[in-house]
Amino acid sequence: MPAPGETVDPSRVHSLDPDQLAAAVTAALASITTATDLDALAAVRTAHVQGDNAPLVLARRELGALPREDRADAGRRHNAARAQVQAAYDTRLAQLTAERDTRVLREERVDVTLPPARRRRGARHPLSSLSDRLVDVFVAMGYEVAEGPEVEHDWFNFEALNMAPDHPARSMHDTLYVEPAGSGRLLRTHTSPVQIRSLLARDLPVYVVAPGRTYRNDAIDATHSPVFGQLEGLAVDEGITMADLRGTLATFAEALFGTGLSTRLRPSYFPFTEPSAELDVQCFSCHGETARQPCRVCSDEGWIEILGCGMVDPNVLRAAGVDPTRYSGFAFGMGLERAAMIRYGVREIRDFVDGDVRFGLPFGIED
Ligand code: DAH
Repeated sequence: MPAPGETVDPSRVHSLDPDQLAAAVTAALASITTATDLDALAAVRTAHVQGDNAPLVLARRELGALPREDRADAGRRHNAARAQVQAAYDTRLAQLTAERDTRVLREERVDVTLPPARRRRGARHPLSSLSDRLVDVFVAMGYEVAEGPEVEHDWFNFEALNMAPDHPARSMHDTLYVEPAGSGRLLRTHTSPVQIRSLLARDLPVYVVAPGRTYRNDAIDATHSPVFGQLEGLAVDEGITMADLRGTLATFAEALFGTGLSTRLRPSYFPFTEPSAELDVQCFSCHGETARQPCRVCSDEGWIEILGCGMVDPNVLRAAGVDPTRYSGFAFGMGLERAAMIRYGVREIRDFVDGDVRFGLPFGIED
C-alpha cells in the first residue's frame, strides 16, 4: 500500500498485485498439469517457471519498484506463488520422469528367459585345415597350387609316371576303374598325375604343390579308407639336386611337427623317381630317447615315416615333354590322413569321414 501522499505508478507493479500473481500461478499450474511428457514440461518451465519472460520471473524484478513498506508483503506473496509453482513443477517432473523410465524399461526389455539361438557353429574339417596349412608353407617358398581331376586317365595316373600296363607296381594301387571297361578312365590312385598335367600345362621351371582326394579299392579299417587325401609336390628346374629336396622337406617337416627335429631320407622305390626315398622325421614325442619310451607315436622307433619322394625319373620328364638332359627335378607325395593321425594322435581313419562335428571341434574353429 502506498503511504499517504506517495504516488506509485500502478502499471509498474501490476504484476505483483495479488490477482495478477494468482492468475500467473493458475496459468502455470494448468500448463504443468497438461504437460504430458518431459519435452512439453521443459517448455512449460521456460514459459512459466524460470524463463526470462515467465510472468513470475518478470514480477520478481518489479519488487524493487514498490515503495519500501509494500515490498515485504509483495515479496512474501511472490515467494509463496513461486514456491507453489515450483512444487507443482517438481512433482510433475518426478511423475513424468518415472513414467518415461518405466516406458523405456518396458520397451527395451530383453526376455532373458527366451531360449537362446541353438544353431551351433561348425568346424572346418581337420584335413582341410592341415592341407591349407601345408600348402601355405609351399606357397611361401614360391610354389603354385595345382589341381587335377579325380576321374583320371590311365595314361596320367600310371603310364606317364613310368608304370606301363604290365608294371608290377600297378598291382599295389588297387585301382577303382570307371566304366565302360577299356575306357582307360579310373579314380586316381594318387595325386602324382598332377605332376604330368602341371608339366604339360605350364612353362618351365615348374614348382607346384597339389593337394587332393585319391581313391583305392581298400576296405575301410582303422588305418585304411577307400578315399583319402594326398599332398603332392613337384619342382622341375635346371640344376635341381637331392640337396634341394632335402632342404625343402626339412622346412616342410618343421611346419608339420615343429622345430628342432632331425629328418632322414631312407632309400626306397617308386617307379616315377630315381633315386627314391622315404622321408622320416624324428619322433616329436620321444625324440628317440629311451627315457621317454614306450612311445605311442612311433612305437619306440624314434622316427616317423612321413612321405615318399625322390628325383623325378627321366622317363617321366620325357613323357611330359621335358628334356632330361637340361632339366631335373624332385617330387614327393604324402598321405594327409596319416600325417594328421600322427600329428594329432587320431587312432581311427574313420573319424575323418564320419562327419561328427565333435571330432573337428578340438582342432579349432576357423572362419
Ligand atoms: N604317389 C605315391 C603314392 O601314392 C607317393 C609318392 C612317392 C609321390 C614318391 C611322389 C614321390 O611324388 O616322388 O604312394
